[in-house]
Amino acid sequence: MTIQPAVLLLSGPNLNLLGTREPSVYGTGTLDDHVAAATAAAAAHGLALRHLQSNRESDLIDAIHSARGTTAAIVINPGAFTHTSWAIHDALAAYDGIVVELHLSNPDSREPWRRTSVVAPVATGTISGFGAHGYVLAIDAVAARLS
Ligand code: DQA
Repeated sequence: MTIQPAVLLLSGPNLNLLGTREPSVYGTGTLDDHVAAATAAAAAHGLALRHLQSNRESDLIDAIHSARGTTAAIVINPGAFTHTSWAIHDALAAYDGIVVELHLSNPDSREPWRRTSVVAPVATGTISGFGAHGYVLAIDAVAARLS
C-alpha cells in the first residue's frame, strides 16, 4: 500500500464568505470552488488534501499542531490573522514541514496595515495576488518542493 503525502489547506476568518465578500477584491469564486481546484491539483501530484476553514484562531492553531509529524505541507490563507496572529506564527514555527502562505489579493498593494505579515517569517514562501489561481500555484509549489 502506498501512503500519499498529505497537504493541509487552512482558511482563516471570513473566507467562508468568499463569492459574496468584496468580490471586486477577492473575486466571485467560493471557498468550495478554491478547495475543489486545490484538491484536483493535489490529486494530479499524488497528494492527499484536507481542508479546514475557521473563524477562530484556536481551531487553526490546533490544526497546525495536529499536522506535526503527520502532514508534509500546510497551505494557509490566514485571512486577517496574517497581520496580527503571533500565536499562528508560533504554531507554524513549531511545525517541521513546508508552509505556503497564500492570499487571493496582494496585501502589499492595499492598506498599509496589510503590509505586515507575521506569518511570512515562518513560511517557506508566499503566493499572493493571483486570485483563485493561487490555490493551484500553492499546490504546485508544494509538489515541486517535495519532489
Ligand atoms: C487575504 C488578505 C487579508 O489581508 C485579508 O484580511 C483576508 C484575505 C487574501 O486572501 O487576500 O481576509 O488573506
